Formats: sequence, structure tokens, C-alpha cells
Amino acid sequence: MKVLVTGGAGYVGTVLAPQLLSAGHEVVVLDSLRNGGQALLPFFEHSAFSFIRGNVHDAELVQRVVADCDAVVHLAAIVGFPACRKHPDLAKTTNVEGTRNVAQAIRAGQPFVYASTGSNYGKLETVCTEESPLHPVSLYAITKTQGEEIALAAGGIGLRFATAFGVSPRLRLDLLINDFVHQAVVNKQIIVYEQHFRRTFIHVRDMARAFCFALDQAEAMRGETYNVGHESLNLTKEDVALAIRERVPFYLHFADVGADPDQRDYDVSYEKIRKLGYQTIVTLDEGIEQLIRAMDVVEITSPFTNV
Ligand SMILES: NC(=O)c1ccc[n+]([C@@H]2O[C@H](COP(=O)([O-])OP(=O)(O)OC[C@H]3O[C@@H](n4cnc5c(N)ncnc54)[C@H](O)[C@@H]3O)[C@@H](O)[C@H]2O)c1
Repeated sequence: MKVLVTGGAGYVGTVLAPQLLSAGHEVVVLDSLRNGGQALLPFFEHSAFSFIRGNVHDAELVQRVVADCDAVVHLAAIVGFPACRKHPDLAKTTNVEGTRNVAQAIRAGQPFVYASTGSNYGKLETVCTEESPLHPVSLYAITKTQGEEIALAAGGIGLRFATAFGVSPRLRLDLLINDFVHQAVVNKQIIVYEQHFRRTFIHVRDMARAFCFALDQAEAMRGETYNVGHESLNLTKEDVALAIRERVPFYLHFADVGADPDQRDYDVSYEKIRKLGYQTIVTLDEGIEQLIRAMDVVEITSPFTNV
């Protein structure tokens, strides 16, 4: 298949592209390169890889590129609450109108996978399933929820991911586990707020595998949402910090100094997608090990944030 990956130059897309190429697909990345395109360079050796520098705001361009592809994975977005808070208009245009442009270009039956997020649930007291009501809190979650509705209405598949972690060619250090490892290794200290808050995580490689799975199972999965992650990675922030401290020494301090704007404190069920046959592979410990080893090449932090 010829697969369009919007936002494919980002943290997830640069892990997904090689998986799609290995599976024998052609890959077309459409990205505005907000964070540069260096991470795409290794893929140009594949004749099945191509790149279009462009913006999902451009409806005519999106229409043309989607028409030329068999399937679409829509990743392009302003990602995370800090970036959306800093650029609120851009976040609305990209995450909502950009998704509408993609959805309007989708042909009947064309596989269309939307990168949604568990942030859409907001604050929840019970175990979170796909039936749980959505109470998005931050602008990021609000715009991603609106994007999800638009994608589903076009027959898309909404994958609601846990928070990603792990090494990627376009590393993000604003993600909780990546940030903790970076602070532990480089600053030798972590200050943790809301230590007992329960979060849920997925390795970026497993996240990419979920897109490949959804493309393979597109007919069975279309028009529905799926939580993507694993219950073994439903962890408190304290669990994560202590797992890192088993591998690297640092000063760990729990303090009452901040709050998560998405108020994420929940256990998530991943039964629905597991029943279809999808399982995560990478454990917390493996992901932490890889990040610790990678920190030697992280020299400056600014290119690795999303703000
Ligand atoms: N990383 C996570 O933990 C996580 C969790 C759940 C969902 N998601 C979703 O997965 C997707 C990818 O996230 P990521 O972590 O790779 O983020 P990222 O910021 O690394 O990548 C986003 C990419 O989109 C591109 N982009 C932004 N605006 C664009 C526009 N108008 N036109 C074209 N390209 C544009 C950027 O240049 C960037 O390469 C997002 O939709 C995000 O909401 C991510």
C-alpha cells in the first residue's frame, strides 16, 4: 500500500516510517517541519520513501496527496498542552481544521487512522474504557477530541494512545518518562509533583506497531476508538521515578509544586484492542535502559521540546 503519514517527521512518525517500509509499504510523509527534518534523512535511501514539505491547513494540497495514496495515518498536530497553550490559534487550526481537511479528502473505504490520545478522557474516577465519557480539560485535549470526532465521522479509526516514551530519531524530552530519565542522567535530580497520580504509558515503537496493526485490520476497526497501551504500564509517577533510580543514581524529591493541566490520574483498560490481537512488546525497563544509553548524545535540550 502507499501510505500517507501526515506529521511523519515527528517523534512517532520517524519510528513509524521504517516499520511501514519494512512491511513493504510505500511511505509518503507530509510535514511542515516545525521541528526540522533531519530525523527523516536515513529514509531517503529507500526508493519507496518520499517527502512533501507542506501544511495540513492547505486543503487543496491535502486533497491531492490523499487522492494519490491508498491509506492515511494522520499524525500532524500541535502536540501537548504546553505547545497548544503557547500557540492556541495554531493548535485549533492544525488539530481541528487540519484534521477536517484530511477527513474531507478521504474516499469511501480508504483506511484512515487518527492519532488520538487518552488525554481526551480528562479526570476520571473509574477504570477508563472506550465507553467512558470524554471530559477533555486542556486545549490540547479539547482540539484532539474534536479532531477525533471528525475522523470517526469519516470512517476513521481513532487510536487513543497512552503517553509515549522511548528513543526516537526525533526525540521529545517533554514526555514524562523521557523527561525523568533526562533529568536523572543529566541534572542528577528529579522533583516529582502529584507523585501518586496514575498515568499510563506506551513505548513509541509499540505505538508505531499499533498504526501498522490498524492498517492491516482497517475493515474490522473502522469508525471506532481503541485505547492503545497495556495495563502493566498503568503506573504512578513515583513508580516511574523509582524504576529509573534502580538504574541510575540521582536525588529524588517529592514536592507539592505543580499540577498536570490535563488532570490525568486514571487506570486505562486496553482489552478492546487486545481482543483483536494487538499486544505491546516493550517493557518500562527496556525503554528506560535505551533512554539512559541515548542520553550521551543529547547535548542541548531545546530542539527536543515541543514548545
Ligand atoms: N507522543 C505521545 O505521547 C502521543 C500520545 C497520544 C497521541 N499522540 C498523537 O500522535 C501524533 C504525533 O505525535 P508526536 O509525539 O510525534 O508529536 P511531534 O510534535 O513530534 O510530531 C508532530 C509532527 O506534526 C508536524 N506538523 C505540525 N503541524 C503541522 C501542519 N500544520 N502541517 C503538517 N505537519 C504539521 C510537525 O512538524 C511534527 O513533525 C499527534 O497527533 C499526537 O497528538 C502522541
